[in-house]
Amino acid sequence: MIHDTTIEAPADRIPVVVLGATGLVGQRLVAMLARHPWFRLAGVAASERHAGRQYGEVVQWRIEGEAPPEAAALRLARPTPDDCPPATLVFSALPALEAEAVEPVFARAGAFVSSNASAFRMQPDVPLVIPEINPDHLSALANQRASRQWSGALVTNPNCSTIGLALTLAPLARFGIDQVMVTTLQAASGAGYPGVASLDLIDNVIPFIAGEEEKIETETRKILGVWQDGAFVDAPIRLSAQTTRVPVREGHLASVSVKFAQTLDPDEILAAWEAYSGLPQTLGLPTAPQQVLRYLDAPDRPQPRYDRDAENGMGVTLGRLRRCAVLDYRFICLSHNTIRGAAGAALLNAELAYARGLLAASGRSA
Ligand SMILES: NC(=O)c1ccc[n+]([C@@H]2O[C@H](COP(=O)([O-])OP(=O)(O)OC[C@H]3O[C@@H](n4cnc5c(N)ncnc54)[C@H](OP(=O)(O)O)[C@@H]3O)[C@@H](O)[C@H]2O)c1
Repeated sequence: MIHDTTIEAPADRIPVVVLGATGLVGQRLVAMLARHPWFRLAGVAASERHAGRQYGEVVQWRIEGEAPPEAAALRLARPTPDDCPPATLVFSALPALEAEAVEPVFARAGAFVSSNASAFRMQPDVPLVIPEINPDHLSALANQRASRQWSGALVTNPNCSTIGLALTLAPLARFGIDQVMVTTLQAASGAGYPGVASLDLIDNVIPFIAGEEEKIETETRKILGVWQDGAFVDAPIRLSAQTTRVPVREGHLASVSVKFAQTLDPDEILAAWEAYSGLPQTLGLPTAPQQVLRYLDAPDRPQPRYDRDAENGMGVTLGRLRRCAVLDYRFICLSHNTIRGAAGAALLNAELAYARGLLAASGRSA
């Protein structure tokens, strides 16, 4: 969703580069950037095997519509600052291993890197940001610049299923969250393209996604925690996650049970969700959803096929709030994994950085 913002738009759209532009998250970024009021896609990069070729010839477009013509005409670069066009802002949609090697090179060269990859999310000087929840974690960038001597910066967004869960829990944190049990039903696109072989996924559920349960448990605590006296302090929540891959194209569903530190009426939970809003909404950031959380009363919702596109994929949909016989309450939440859970998350982080003047502070310019 592109809407009016209280932040002044740059006189000229800021040139950006997308690393991993041929992948599923990269494609989402390319599509969302094509109509972005502040940022202009100046460069795309993928693996060595595609270097030098035209984006439109190489990309196997696997999201709605077609590759935007301006993007299709771009030459695919190697993911190095020398091969990519100059850009203040770099979006990384690289696999974690490649991100680990490549992202610091861009940050050192002065770019503001907004990353989807897991490589640096849990580092003590790297903000892991959901702008509605913990925009103040960007304060860690001062430490990052000092300790790593980068003229640029590196900010990460969480794992795709963590984002929906954390946004759902954030408005409930004031009631005191003691324990969370979550089981996810994650879409095929969460594994990238081509991802899981169709013969493994059709007529099936795979009860294992490597590293995913640990990511949900550790990342959620970091995001809901605080930046205090120069360090991240995790939220003291006991979290247990189980993750499964299901034959759904897009949209991660999660079945959640929560134990609170106090007795609560369900209406208090519903009211907290309904009223939830943060800095992106106050500032009117271009990609921000107007309504962050939407609760559906129908007993059989949310469902991926019908509800994943809420707020152009940037909203989280909730349903089935009821008492839990083991913990206190249970419910279902759903979020779009490649939009709110990835490309849209990285874009919103970059918009927040622009609004806070942090892009100008990065050293690499167009
Ligand atoms: N899919 C999701 O829902 C989701 C959600 C949150 C976060 N993420 C994270 O976002 C990142 C991208 O995920 P994805 O689903 O888009 O994966 P993907 O579809 O597999 O795409 C991977 C991209 O990385 C490029 N790449 C692969 N190896 C490379 C190398 N050695 N050097 C440079 N580029 C290389 C690929 O380029 P070629 O085409 O040239 O191979 C492609 O553009 C991952 O870190 C993932 O964990 C994904």
